[in-house]
Order: sequence, then structure tokens, then C-alpha cells
Amino acid sequence: MTPTDSAEPRHRSPSSRADFTIEQDWGAYDEEEHAIWRTLFRRQEALLRDRACAEFLAGVAELGVAADAIPDFRKLNAVLERRTRWSIVAVPGLVPDAIFFEHLANRRFPSTCFIRRRDQLDYLQEPDVFHDLFGHVPMLTNPVFADYMQAYGEGGLKALRLDALERLARLYWYTVEFGLIETEAGLRIYGSGIVSSKGESVYCLESPRPNRVGFDLLRIMRTRYRIDDFQETYFVVRGFEELFDATRPDFTPYYRELESSPDLEPGQIVPTDRVLNRG
Ligand SMILES: [Fe+2]
Repeated sequence: MTPTDSAEPRHRSPSSRADFTIEQDWGAYDEEEHAIWRTLFRRQEALLRDRACAEFLAGVAELGVAADAIPDFRKLNAVLERRTRWSIVAVPGLVPDAIFFEHLANRRFPSTCFIRRRDQLDYLQEPDVFHDLFGHVPMLTNPVFADYMQAYGEGGLKALRLDALERLARLYWYTVEFGLIETEAGLRIYGSGIVSSKGESVYCLESPRPNRVGFDLLRIMRTRYRIDDFQETYFVVRGFEELFDATRPDFTPYYRELESSPDLEPGQIVPTDRVLNRG
């Protein structure tokens, strides 16, 4: 799930509760749906072995997310709750921002249940269960990242009150969804939008086209992003502590400061950028 443009209309499924949660109904998946999961899982597993960060790969292993079938949320939750006190809740699709942030602030990750069709293997604009589970949940086993996600939810509720959602959504986009991390072995992926995409898993690290720029909170909050193509700029953290520490202060003065700063285009470089190559 991703916090999104609040102008977008959303409809509540009749079966959902006040907090938009539903039952996953694991028994209702058919063999073709499990087969699509298997295809997606196997190809990402092979691609990510030397491209995803160690924390993500450890999370996949620890949760027991595997190729054989779409995971049962209850089984993942048994591990996740013990590890970082997070849980996954099923939702029918995009939920209103306030509901999304409320879940994160309470260490609940809203995940869709449906899986894409076979003709959508390579690209799907809306999140499906492969993106949400394979992409997002492994990082929630990491204690620092798990705390960052909770803090993000709390910050989101505050940003709604301050009318600063667009700024904060950019932070989610360039970290949780499309973040890279510097490691001794070189740059590695932790962003869920990348790990769940075959093409972008390779492009983000190996293509000469995109910019790879050191993490800078205020710079990110000024930077527009693309939802219809691979990213033109990736932001790179030195470690998850850097992410958590930078986002610990109250953002209210930042939002005020940014009112006088023009937005940056997705591919724009500014003189203060720490520009990296693959490393
Ligand atoms: Fe997402």
C-alpha cells in the first residue's frame, strides 16, 4: 500500500469494517492464482539474491515466504508479531489516507489480497498481494525499519492535519517504495516497489540512466515522482538508522520552510546532492 493523492475517489467494499479490514479468505485462492505467485516469487528470488539488502533477504527467510503458494496472513503474523510486534491486516484495495496512517501508527500493515493476472506479471500500477506481501512485509522484520514505519504512520496523521500530505508521501515513495541502501558490497535494494518489479530490480542498480543520490530528507520532500515509469532518481541511505534518525524530529518547521522552496523535477540534480554510482 502507498499513501496516495487524496483527490482520488475510493469506495469501501460492503464487507469491510470501519477500519476497512476484511478477511483474507486464504482458502478461496485457486490454483492459477497460486501459480502466478510462484512465477513472480521464483523470478524475483533469483534476481534479488545479489541485489536486495541482507535485511530484506533475511526477512523473506524468517517469515517463511516461499514460492509454493500465496502466503496465509495468519502464518506470517505468527512470526511478525513475535519479531517486531507488527501484523498484517487484509484490506480490499486502496484505503483513505487517514485509515492507512492509523494502521501504520498502530503497527498494522494493510495488505491487499488479490493477485494480478498473468498478463500483468511485469507491471501493475495498483498494489496487489505480491507487491504488498513480498515487497513490504520482509522489511517489517527489521526492528529499526519497523519503528520507522510506525513513526511514518504517526507523521502521516500529523501531515493530514497540517495539509502537508504531498510532502510526506514523497518520503514514503523515495524510501519505503523505491529506496536503496549503501553496503560494503555496493548499493542494494530495500524499496518494495523495486523488489516486486522484475525490470526495476535490475534497472535501479545497473542502468546508467537514473541518478543515485544520498538521502536528504528536505530534498526528497521537494522532489516529484513518477508513477508510470521507472524512477529517474533513487535516494540512497547509509543505513536504516539514518532514515529513522532523520525522521525523528517534528516535521512542522520543515513543512513551513518548504513552502518557499520550489519543487524539483524527478530527474533534476541540485548542487548539494551527494551523487553516487553503483559503488
Ligand atoms: Fe507499496
